[in-house]
Amino acid sequence: MTIRRVVLEDAPILSKLGADTFYDTFKGTCTDEDMDGFLVDYFNIEQVQKELSDADDYFYFAEVDGKAVGYIRIKEDYTAFETMKQWKALELKRLYVSTDYHGKGVAQALTNLAFEFAHQHQYEVVWLGVWEFNFRAQKFYQKMGFEDTGHKHDFPIGNTPQTDLWYWKFLNK
Ligand SMILES: CC(C)(COP(=O)(O)OP(=O)(O)OC[C@H]1O[C@@H](n2cnc3c(N)ncnc32)[C@H](O)[C@@H]1OP(=O)(O)O)[C@@H](O)C(=O)NCCC(=O)NCCS
Repeated sequence: MTIRRVVLEDAPILSKLGADTFYDTFKGTCTDEDMDGFLVDYFNIEQVQKELSDADDYFYFAEVDGKAVGYIRIKEDYTAFETMKQWKALELKRLYVSTDYHGKGVAQALTNLAFEFAHQHQYEVVWLGVWEFNFRAQKFYQKMGFEDTGHKHDFPIGNTPQTDLWYWKFLNK
């Protein structure tokens, strides 16, 4: 497996991988209409190109035999959880691995890359939101040293309300 930064030319691959993995994760937790709308809004090619054009928005692919099987998105962005402004804080905005590669170390490798990035750039804390019923992801993040902050926020998929828990990991721990 190799990990590399995603570049603008990868937009079609990221758009498909992003949509497929989001669908696989959240299918059945919202209406079909809400799912379709979310996929169109967040993974359309123009949106993905816009995000990839932002030099401060970091996407990395994990690739096996040259095929992207997972990705991570990290960015310094306090808009969703302003409490984090008291620290130099890196948001782990997304971590999605194709189902066939769950439990195989791909997610660990991508998360470790985020920690290395955070150390290199002197971040004090890495934080993320995880759906309250996504128990596999919660277990994974706990395994990687994250803790529940006790704070929550709304993360609706279209008109379907959902709640995310904020997790964090301080890097001096
Ligand atoms: C979340 C994700 C990145 C984790 O990567 P992974 O390779 O599956 O993680 P791991 O297998 O190393 O760890 C998952 C742990 O949860 C456990 N687990 C699996 N299903 C579980 C469940 N329903 N409830 C509780 N724990 C569960 C596993 O046994 C494992 O723990 P263990 O290593 O002690 O046995 C990956 O599953 C994924 O991409 N999921 C879909 C996208 C997603 O949910 N992203 C997170 C959005 S915030």
